[in-house]
Amino acid sequence: MKIDKVMVIGAGQMGSGIAQVMAQAGKDVILQDLKDNFVNRGIQKIEQNLAKQVDKGKIDEEQKEATMLRIKPSTEIASAKEADIVIEAAVENMEVKKNVFARLDDLAPPHAILATNTSSLPITEIAATTKRADKVIGMHFMNPVPVMKLVEVIRGLATSDEVSDAVYDLAKQLNKTPVEVNDFPGFVSNRVLMPMINEAIYTVYEGVASPEDVDKVMQLGMNHPMGPLTLADFIGLDTCLYIMETLHEGFGDDKYRPCPLLRKYVKAGWLGRKTGRGFYVYDT
Ligand code: CAA
Ligand code: NAD
Repeated sequence: MKIDKVMVIGAGQMGSGIAQVMAQAGKDVILQDLKDNFVNRGIQKIEQNLAKQVDKGKIDEEQKEATMLRIKPSTEIASAKEADIVIEAAVENMEVKKNVFARLDDLAPPHAILATNTSSLPITEIAATTKRADKVIGMHFMNPVPVMKLVEVIRGLATSDEVSDAVYDLAKQLNKTPVEVNDFPGFVSNRVLMPMINEAIYTVYEGVASPEDVDKVMQLGMNHPMGPLTLADFIGLDTCLYIMETLHEGFGDDKYRPCPLLRKYVKAGWLGRKTGRGFYVYDT
């Protein structure tokens, strides 16, 4: 199965990263979001990342320009008609994803694979909104996409071997390492990572230590590159909450209950780095 044209839905931190690595691997990319300014923000982020690579001598100006030219901005989901694969990286909400997949099923060519970058939601349920469940799959990149090597590949109940092989091969073309995991809430990555982050938030909530000190313990004591609260701000506190809710609902086990402080921050619009405030304050 040949994949030359890639459409990415959602030009946030994950969508823009996925578009960047696809274009750097020589794919033609359509980067789509709801509004022009959202798409432009994603395109600007890619341009900044590539400019840094030029400064470091990793690529030259010509390669940067050629990569940028391969990325076409769009606010129309109908651009899916040109795609061999669509990778959805919109917000972590089942209703949004189901609506997107139902529309993509109508718009994308019959051969196209429909992949989701969901952090935790069931692939089988998303696939059930389409008439091509054999071509629906989870392709879960890690943040920041240009740096992290892992891609979790999650097959739904009906995903075909051919589609799974094609996505494996695509991940390798990006110089990433695909790992296949079963379709259970949070897969492996977030079933293990997110309860740790949630527990770190509880230690702040219960006054055990300040965010700075919790982070210091995990960075210096466990050699984590970022402390869990810095990482939560980096991922996005809304995304962290949605993932905890999926684990809680999916397993029906109270050990996954989201910390009330996480809920409070999300309700306040303190979503972490992307809004300038979470456990820490950032320049936006
Ligand atoms: N976008 C693109 N590139 C970035 C970047 C970004 N946001 N942040 C850093 N980089 C690049 C830098 O340019 C640098 O590149 P070179 O090696 O080519 O010079 C490299 O990454 C290292 O960066 P720095 O030296 O500035 O900083 P660092 O050594 O502290 O590393 C980090 C930064 C890679 C982000 C590191 O802190 C880290 O690994 N953090 C943990 C990240 C992590 O756990 N990600 C998984 C999140 S969970 C997830 O993604 C799943 C989910 O569903 C929620
Ligand atoms: P983000 O908030 O940075 O970006 C989401 C983007 O999707 C926004 O620009 C928004 O306008 C757009 N969007 C929302 N609804 C849309 C629709 N119907 N059509 C097109 N665009 C739409 O979020 P993010 O961090 O990039 O996360 C995106 C997805 O990737 C989520 O499912 C998330 O769980 C998953 N993910 C996130 C991380 C992470 O660390 N943040 C890591 C892996 C996977």
